[in-house]
Amino acid sequence: MTKDENFFEKKMDRREFLKKAGIGGAGLALGLSGASAFFANKEHGSKQIADGQEEISFYGKHQAGITTPMQKNIYFVVLDLRTTDKNELIQLFKDWTDYSQKLVNGELVKKDGSNALLPPSDTGETVGLNPYRLTLTFGVSASFLTKLGLEKKRPKLFRDLPAFPKEQLREQYTGGDIVIQACADDEQVAFHAVRNLIRKGRIKVTMKWSQSGFAAIGDRMETPRNLFGFKDGTANVTTEKDFDKVVWADSNDWMKNGSYMAVRRIIMHLETWDRTNLQEQENTFGRYKESGAPFGKQNEFDEVDLSLLPVDSHVRLAKEVDLPILRRSYSYSDGIDPKTGQFDAGLLFIAFQKDPDSFVKIQTNLGADDKMNEYVTHIGSGLFACFGGVKEGGYIGQDLFE
Ligand code: HEM
Repeated sequence: MTKDENFFEKKMDRREFLKKAGIGGAGLALGLSGASAFFANKEHGSKQIADGQEEISFYGKHQAGITTPMQKNIYFVVLDLRTTDKNELIQLFKDWTDYSQKLVNGELVKKDGSNALLPPSDTGETVGLNPYRLTLTFGVSASFLTKLGLEKKRPKLFRDLPAFPKEQLREQYTGGDIVIQACADDEQVAFHAVRNLIRKGRIKVTMKWSQSGFAAIGDRMETPRNLFGFKDGTANVTTEKDFDKVVWADSNDWMKNGSYMAVRRIIMHLETWDRTNLQEQENTFGRYKESGAPFGKQNEFDEVDLSLLPVDSHVRLAKEVDLPILRRSYSYSDGIDPKTGQFDAGLLFIAFQKDPDSFVKIQTNLGADDKMNEYVTHIGSGLFACFGGVKEGGYIGQDLFE
């Protein structure tokens, strides 16, 4: 291959490419401030969504991808450590910081020299694509702290999840030391980001489990519906003030400005659900399917009157615990379950909260009595401490290591 024929020889980063194509420009760097609704992001028109032009800064007080209005796609991966050498891991987190900041800006992870006999540093599948609001969110599990001899730094509230009623966890979807959540309004952008981060981490980490997913975000004016056809996320908090109350850890340790992520891979038995009459479906949640309004009310965001909801309905059981969490879940569909011949589909449930105990108490209440249990099975689980945001010049997880 001659120099000119080599695609990457041109060293054209994505931003340059887009400028040349006349569709890039400076992009719109989105801060995370402002009290825009979590899903209904009316400040930004649909044109930017179509162009994928908006960027979300990697640096900030908090990591992006937690209170960021949801994107259309997720690529979620849990990694196992292959080394417990602290310095090697600090280097990895520094490398990931460098890569992440470029990825969310829509640039190549690294520009190569002219040696065509080397593999390109960037795998290349996003050349010509905008950043599509890519966010990268990093966290570690309790086993990460143990393996690195950082047990002493384990915050008191970072306890292991207990066993929950009716769960049927599978080894292949549990455990792991590091989580990376990539969300973007384009599936290939999200996948590319994880692929390149893992490529950089080879030898130090291996993949334990991963899940891609999607959310019906549309033009961000409506709450997305899950695969049961119900609006999902209605009760989420939406303002900075509430995020402080619900999401961001209060502690003054390395989790300052961070959040705890609870993850569940939940199979949804769609065929059973689809045989269920509408009244039963609505009784399952205590909300009307079309409008999303709670029983006895007209509109989606009307206040829930618990006494009007069936005692075993999902919303009643979740709400009566009275401990808010921020849900940021994605649907998945993974082909056909070879044992049943039915859809292998469900929800990659993700919730952020300042104290994992809120999730634990809600799931304990739901696990026992939720009417929805007839239609779902929890098979994967994880709890991760997602660091506070990265300052320019700093690196992911710095406060934990120093
Ligand atoms: C496949 C699994 C699940 C489905 C399909 C589902 C669906 C829904 C739907 C449709 C709503 C009502 C609208 C809304 O406020 O978002 C809701 C509310 C809620 N869900 Fe779930 N959910 C699932 C799993 C979970 C899990 C595992 C938890 C936590 C342990 C949870 C916690 C909540 C909470 C806290 C609310 C809000 C209650 C309120 O304050 O009104 N959900 N869910």
